[in-house]
Amino acid sequence: MDLESLKKEAKLEIQKAKTIDELESIRIKHLGKKGSLTKILHSIGNLSVTERPKVGQLANKLKNELAESIEEKKKTIGKGKSYPWIDTSLPGRKSNTGGLHPLSILSQEIQDIFIRMGFSVVTGPEIETEYYNFTALNTPKHHPARDMHDTFYLKDGRLLRTHTSPVQIRTLEKNSPPLRIISPGKCYRVDTFDPIHSPTFTQIEGLWVDKNISMADLFGTLDSFAKNIFGKDVKTEFFPSYFPFTEPSAEMWIECPFCKGKGCSVCKKRGKIETVGAGMVHPNILKSLGYEGCNGFAFGMGVDRIAMTKYDIDDIRLFFQNELQFLRQFNDSKL
Ligand code: DAH
Repeated sequence: MDLESLKKEAKLEIQKAKTIDELESIRIKHLGKKGSLTKILHSIGNLSVTERPKVGQLANKLKNELAESIEEKKKTIGKGKSYPWIDTSLPGRKSNTGGLHPLSILSQEIQDIFIRMGFSVVTGPEIETEYYNFTALNTPKHHPARDMHDTFYLKDGRLLRTHTSPVQIRTLEKNSPPLRIISPGKCYRVDTFDPIHSPTFTQIEGLWVDKNISMADLFGTLDSFAKNIFGKDVKTEFFPSYFPFTEPSAEMWIECPFCKGKGCSVCKKRGKIETVGAGMVHPNILKSLGYEGCNGFAFGMGVDRIAMTKYDIDDIRLFFQNELQFLRQFNDSKL
């Protein structure tokens, strides 16, 4: 076949083609290994020396031209013209995206409140030594307070931290006051898995050490935190408490947001809910780290508990069961 008729034939075929498959067959027919144009290109050697360059040039030109026309046509088919089964007027299907876990969302919200008050965020290890988890926090061996923390011990004597308070010590060892930090993270205790207990839970620790810090600073900071999380009308109350690492120690309770103090099942008829443990950093701790001229306050809160109060959830296990229906409520994206 001469080049001219080959060109005509191929162009017509390309014009008529309706599918990508058809175009592919046309390409193979003319440009494939055994294609008609390929054959011509291979037989050029048999031509006379004068004809060779002329025919070679024309054949190569045609090869590129056909390849280009096939590609062009493929693109127009790709636009849907030849795919009648695609209804381009249908709305697109939303792709599934994951969302943050409600405890991560709330933890971030709490962190943001303290960041706005000038605290910075530091984290510490979940596997701790007895020293950081207890001893350095004024809780020596055989101290009765250790019993309150049913601890998971590792074979090598280390443990899974029972609270985020060890980060106070790690931070004070590396940085000298003034400092203002919060520390979010997971904690572990040997607990039954029931509606109000979980062997793993999330805490946020806070620490502010400087000179002349008072209980009033502590109360003001925590009251402001409560108003940011539970609404500006929430009422807070502070009661004396006991923690080995603070002296004096206090608890902040908020008025039950569900019954407004009247007493209901959420607050167990108390009208209020315990929200944060706190106090003035025990002088023994500051002394042992060499900061005798300083004082400060510390606090610790359970993010799971705050989430249960804020969102009216009566079973902590819901946070760990990965029920999409439950988790979806906290995210805009419909997982
Ligand atoms: N670590 C305490 C707990 O897990 C919470 C806590 C109470 C932390 C008082 C503090 C604090 O920093 O001052 O129960």
